[in-house]
Amino acid sequence: MAARGVGLLTRLPLRAQRSQAQRPLRRLLTCPGTVAADVGREEPSSGSAETGSEDRTPKKRFSEVQKERREQAQRTVLIHCPNKISEKKLLKHLSQHGPINSHFFYESFGLYAVVEFSQKESIASLQNVTRTPSLGTEAAIPFRSRYFNLKLKNPVNQTSEQSSIQCSNQSSPSSKKLFESLCCAGSVDDQLNTLLKESQLTEENTKLRYLTCSLIEDVAAAYFPDCAVRPFGSSVNSFGKLGCDLDMFLDLDEIGKISAHKASGNFLVEFQVKNVPSERIATQKILSVIGECLDHFGPGCVGIQKILNARCPLVRFSHQASGFQCDLTANNRIALESTELLYIYGALDSRVRALVFSIRCWARAHSLTSSIPGAWITNFSLTMMVIFFLQRRSPPILPTLDCLKTLADAEDKCIIEGHNCTFVRDLNRIKPSGNTETLELLLKEFFEYFGNFAFNKNSINIRQGREQNKPESSPLHIQNPFETSLNISKNVSQSQLQKFVDLARESAWILHQVDKYRPSPSSLQPWGLAALLLPTVANTMSVAKKKKKPASERIKNLLESIKSSSTENSTATSGKRAVSTQA
Ligand code: GTP
Ligand code: MG
Repeated sequence: MAARGVGLLTRLPLRAQRSQAQRPLRRLLTCPGTVAADVGREEPSSGSAETGSEDRTPKKRFSEVQKERREQAQRTVLIHCPNKISEKKLLKHLSQHGPINSHFFYESFGLYAVVEFSQKESIASLQNVTRTPSLGTEAAIPFRSRYFNLKLKNPVNQTSEQSSIQCSNQSSPSSKKLFESLCCAGSVDDQLNTLLKESQLTEENTKLRYLTCSLIEDVAAAYFPDCAVRPFGSSVNSFGKLGCDLDMFLDLDEIGKISAHKASGNFLVEFQVKNVPSERIATQKILSVIGECLDHFGPGCVGIQKILNARCPLVRFSHQASGFQCDLTANNRIALESTELLYIYGALDSRVRALVFSIRCWARAHSLTSSIPGAWITNFSLTMMVIFFLQRRSPPILPTLDCLKTLADAEDKCIIEGHNCTFVRDLNRIKPSGNTETLELLLKEFFEYFGNFAFNKNSINIRQGREQNKPESSPLHIQNPFETSLNISKNVSQSQLQKFVDLARESAWILHQVDKYRPSPSSLQPWGLAALLLPTVANTMSVAKKKKKPASERIKNLLESIKSSSTENSTATSGKRAVSTQA
């Protein structure tokens, strides 16, 4: 991932004062698990969106969203523009080819325009008047793509009429800006919602992701007409952060479907094809040839790496114009199912995404996650942990996967390579939860829960929503929701897990202090979520570990003493105290 973390925050003194009065809480979704006729009719929000804002319109299925976005992307072009350009003139020029639905500009080593036509025919019309450049000493490989380069015929005339162009932002906020926003928030709930709002994918960034897939599909279609390149992972599962990678799936199934559909009469006609010994070898061969194709003919595709011996073979490259780091896979259909499953979990309750974003950001700030493969926990595993934790609340905030399976109808049935991937696809059939816990409480409890989880003997399992005995000895065991014999966190080392546990305990402790002391919003003192993101929390702990008793033990004792004192005496004590991260 190319995302900028918050790990570079400058540490400010941790001083705090008595907490502000809690804002009124809004009612949230009720008990999950059964068909609900009244979805979208929950009570209105009471003022601010502490727990996010619920959309009360019927929620779209993942497949509907994918279909609409894909079709929209097929009517869209990407244009590299001169820096000085008249927006009005450009739109007028392009309108010769048909009406334009929408457009936006962004900057990424130059100025780019993304223009969505109303009709697909406009693309061919534009391509028909587009020339292949003559490059002096170099030679161009001709390729009719939807990625154009715009040049001014009379630069002098045009620059005099240029208007300033509004560019849409494609990167996450700077650490400083995010930190300031978090410090100024009125409550921990506001902090989590602010983090979500500022770092989630924008509408424009989402459009650019679908467009990039569509452009890659055009290249792959040179070999495999009727193929589809579909985004999956965090770009489309609702947990994507600005700057996250773009996972793509080369879907060749449509090709087979078309021929099956057309078959009629007394004969069955099959294509003569080359046979290879296994599905994996077929995938490697296909990806190899597409990798070559992208390398030689893919406009804007650079740094192509063919990683074909990985468990899941892939082609990795950078798409220069969009700035996305892309991973193209094939024969990875189960990942599409887990993407849809996460989309459903993310859409069921607004607290889910807010919590996942914060935990991912917290993990990144403390180098628990990394863009380099290794013994680190992944964002996918962290998301599974949050889902599992929310299934364990009382009443549960999220239903188990088994529960989603019982709600499935005949259309939802899905078996991939012998793995049962059946679950309800229609979000509106899942009953909302009656749990009304605040994000602040959930964040604190998340850290406490996993700070004290018996990782040595138990496995995390979102299918059943309960802890199970670990079937193997990896330090962290999170059952793959569909390939249930697999552990999605097999790579995580004991030391990385211990670091996670230590940080979780310390973070729970810091959040307990928020109850008692909160600085005034204008003081820009790090508190709540902002305090959790400070990198020195981890450093302090490792120094403390070397010097004294293990930090985890001391924090555990502290947590226990806080717990017992808060149950004995629920009225908070007044007065200022310094919050120290050195437990
Ligand atoms: P980012 O870190 O924001 O990219 O999150 P991500 O969810 O996109 O993760 P990643 O790019 O690593 O993987 C893309 C998708 O592949 C995930 O969302 C999952 O659907 C799937 N995936 C990733 N890791 C695993 C794994 O270990 N096992 C299985 N079964 N699927 C995985
Ligand atoms: Mg990804």
